[in-house]
Amino acid sequence: MQDLKGKVAFITGGASGIGLAMARALGREGMSVMLADIETQPLQLAVDELRAAQVKAEGVVADVTRRDSLRAAALETLARFGKVHVVCNNAGVGAGGMLGQVPERDWNWVIDVNLYGVVHGMEIFTPLMLSHGEGGHFVNTASMAGLVSPAGMEPYCATKYAVLGMSEGWAQQLAPQGIGMSILCPGFVKTRIHESRRNRTEAAYGHDDRTPPPADAPPSPVLSGIDPQAVGNRVAEAVKANELYVFTHPEFKAVTAARFDRILAAFDSAAASPALSALPKREMPGLNLPGQQTGAVFE
Ligand SMILES: NC(=O)c1ccc[n+]([C@@H]2O[C@H](COP(=O)([O-])OP(=O)(O)OC[C@H]3O[C@@H](n4cnc5c(N)ncnc54)[C@H](O)[C@@H]3O)[C@@H](O)[C@H]2O)c1
Repeated sequence: MQDLKGKVAFITGGASGIGLAMARALGREGMSVMLADIETQPLQLAVDELRAAQVKAEGVVADVTRRDSLRAAALETLARFGKVHVVCNNAGVGAGGMLGQVPERDWNWVIDVNLYGVVHGMEIFTPLMLSHGEGGHFVNTASMAGLVSPAGMEPYCATKYAVLGMSEGWAQQLAPQGIGMSILCPGFVKTRIHESRRNRTEAAYGHDDRTPPPADAPPSPVLSGIDPQAVGNRVAEAVKANELYVFTHPEFKAVTAARFDRILAAFDSAAASPALSALPKREMPGLNLPGQQTGAVFE
């Protein structure tokens, strides 16, 4: 989407942090923005801020874990702005802990927000984008934790690996229909993600009976993260350039490369394995993967 001027963006988790930063950046490009968020007061403050900066902005309270809630927000967006061109499936929460110490309802909460929230956004907005024929673009917020797995962040990693994997497939489905995809993978960004529990609804996920961290616990690395606005500005660049992978922390390249090196080395171990040596040589089956010579439907 090279020219964003006069077009419409819908951003989940738009009331704060990275979502609000994306709204500022896309607003500066001349887009109208609809912010969707579960937190009412920050949402109003965010809309006020954008309007003060001459951005056409509206807000809608929505819970991305509930498809009906997100669908109502989409309809509200059409009522206000007529169309949607860029959708940022960005709302997210963090939770983790030692093996055996993460309550099942925390797993459910993180999966509902970070994974199903993105699925709902894709399924609701794809037909709306296709219907106006002007093209569109999705920005799905994953994380560096969708590429490397710090110990203790397993529920979060599960959802962010899922966002990355799903988005790579959707990108192939949507490209022939004129819809682009960017997968945002930041490292630490100075937002309120470490205070995610403010949005954990007791009605849906039960009483939060986790022991809070001790007062002398080391501060969250999020607090020494980069300025969210740099991430928002990077997203505006990526949407215009139709970049699939969007990184903001080049210093994570070495650990990512180390993971891929180990994965590739494991293929070499398989090729040299006596246990597999008796099998006949096989061709890679057609699976619609980018770069495959055969069987690619969506390239
Ligand atoms: N901050 C980081 O270090 C970092 C790093 C990598 C990825 N991310 C991802 O960036 C995204 C944005 O997070 P952030 O860092 O700006 O944190 P944040 O807490 O500042 O913003 C998250 C927003 O999502 C909203 N939200 C939470 N649950 C919701 C729900 N059920 N429905 C609708 N809105 C909901 C919150 O109210 C909040 O406004 C998340 O997907 C997060 O996983 C953050």
